[in-house]
Amino acid sequence: MFEIRPYRPDDREDVALICLRTAAAGGDATGVYSDDALMPEVFALPYVEFAPELAFVVADTETGRAFGYVMAVADTAAFVEWWRREWAPGFAARHPAAGAPTEHAPDFTEAELIDAGVHPERMLVPELAEYPAHLHIDLLPELQGLGFGRRLIDTVRAELAARGVPALHLGLAAANTGARAFYDRLGFHELPSSTLQSPRLGIATS
Ligand SMILES: CC(C)(COP(=O)(O)OP(=O)(O)OC[C@H]1O[C@@H](n2cnc3c(N)ncnc32)[C@H](O)[C@@H]1OP(=O)(O)O)[C@@H](O)C(=O)NCCC(=O)NCCS
Repeated sequence: MFEIRPYRPDDREDVALICLRTAAAGGDATGVYSDDALMPEVFALPYVEFAPELAFVVADTETGRAFGYVMAVADTAAFVEWWRREWAPGFAARHPAAGAPTEHAPDFTEAELIDAGVHPERMLVPELAEYPAHLHIDLLPELQGLGFGRRLIDTVRAELAARGVPALHLGLAAANTGARAFYDRLGFHELPSSTLQSPRLGIATS
């Protein structure tokens, strides 16, 4: 049995693993970069550090282990400020330069990933005033296609609406056609700054 519940600190390792196993345009990114810690340190862990109250997991009711998550920040601009101050220095110290290339040669290179870790201003999208929140959602393969994605999005939209946040945005890899179909089905629309290479979608919270 699985349940959706609020994130708690002991989910941190599961969350990092879920991020890694879904980070290659929805597929497993294990071994794609020289350091498996990189993806979670850019796309998952800062979120649960900054706004744990806006993170929810799908967890096994017996073991408590998390198999999926949604995580949001309500105010992306405030998150960027926090990231500059609190996250970027440690990240830069842990990852001073790209490691040796792996056999995978990803489109999103390790140098670009490290750059993303130290330059949070990449998140200041043109539509921020209307869509101040953003989110990430990932489920392990065994939990996909069972309706949890829709329920996680409903949960975090309601939570953001309750805090007075009008709308949220997200970015996705162009190659992630499954995620694109999911977001389209849920009623997300393309934002003006969206491009073929870097799709960007938005939706009201209520
Ligand atoms: C994308 C993801 C979050 C969707 O969650 P999910 O639990 O698999 O999706 P759901 O079962 O809740 O589906 C919700 C709706 O979207 C549709 N949908 C989901 N995936 C789809 C796909 N690949 N193609 C077509 N429709 C899809 C479902 O048919 C369903 O429609 P319905 O509710 O009207 O019946 C999940 O599959 C996932 O984590 N994938 C890997 C990581 C990833 O790509 N994350 C997003 C990065 S931007």
